Amino acid sequence: MRYVFITGTSRGLGNALLEMFQEDRIISISRSEVETDYPLHKIFHIDFLDEGRLEQSVDEIFSSIDPESGDEIFLINNAGIVDPVKSVANIDAESFLNNYKVNVLAPALFMKGFVNHFKDHQGAKRILTVSSGAALNPIEGWAAYCSSKAAVNMVSDVLRLEMDRLKYPIFSATFRPGVIDTDMQEEIRASEEEDFPDVARFQKYKETNKLYNKKTVAYVLKRVITSDNFAFSESFSISDFL
Ligand SMILES: NC(=O)c1ccc[n+]([C@@H]2O[C@H](COP(=O)([O-])OP(=O)(O)OC[C@H]3O[C@@H](n4cnc5c(N)ncnc54)[C@H](OP(=O)(O)O)[C@@H]3O)[C@@H](O)[C@H]2O)c1
Repeated sequence: MRYVFITGTSRGLGNALLEMFQEDRIISISRSEVETDYPLHKIFHIDFLDEGRLEQSVDEIFSSIDPESGDEIFLINNAGIVDPVKSVANIDAESFLNNYKVNVLAPALFMKGFVNHFKDHQGAKRILTVSSGAALNPIEGWAAYCSSKAAVNMVSDVLRLEMDRLKYPIFSATFRPGVIDTDMQEEIRASEEEDFPDVARFQKYKETNKLYNKKTVAYVLKRVITSDNFAFSESFSISDFL
């Protein structure tokens, strides 16, 4: 039996993942209500902007399963925000911080909880954090997003090193999913050109059907996390699969 912890299941890629893992025991972690036709083993609601509550809830979330009854345990850090889309000169402290809470701190706290709860468990244990090509390439107007995804990549990479010391290893990697047709892209397309000079390129992606369907991306993500090669790479890209 496989347990799969997934964050950001209310919309977008996270919601599509519920179908992909329908045969497994899904522990759904979201801020908003989740609408789905697929069974959820456990449901937790948390706003990642409330880092105090998040830190407390992480223990409760990982204690909610009995690891001995599962032979595989996965964590998919999927929830993320692109906001604030503005030039560095115009981003206030709170907006920077909120982005980092959702995109860096929350996945880091989930990694911490996962390691502390399951390090002695002998089954397969894998963490996949949804990152972005924006972690590797600077994009005007996306300082918070680019830097947050670069930071979470590094948290995952450091964790990989630390996991070498465990008797029963936990493998951690990141995944670049390409440009997906979700609310996040809608938000990006609605940006003002003065905040995001490249907005026309993203509007064109939609007009010319260049966006990946979220189900396709969810399918590839499942292939990544279940792959025999998962342990051997710190990062995966959808372009390696499609
Ligand atoms: N879409 C793309 O083109 C694209 C490209 C590269 C990488 N990604 C990455 O892929 C992942 C999924 O993105 P998506 O396109 O599916 O985004 P989305 O449709 O905008 O969904 C974002 C998810 O994150 C959750 N979330 C946002 N703020 C939260 C908070 N404060 N606390 C808890 N949950 C929160 C949302 O919950 P609510 O419903 O409660 O807001 C929602 O479930 C993200 O990590 C994103 O950075 C996306």
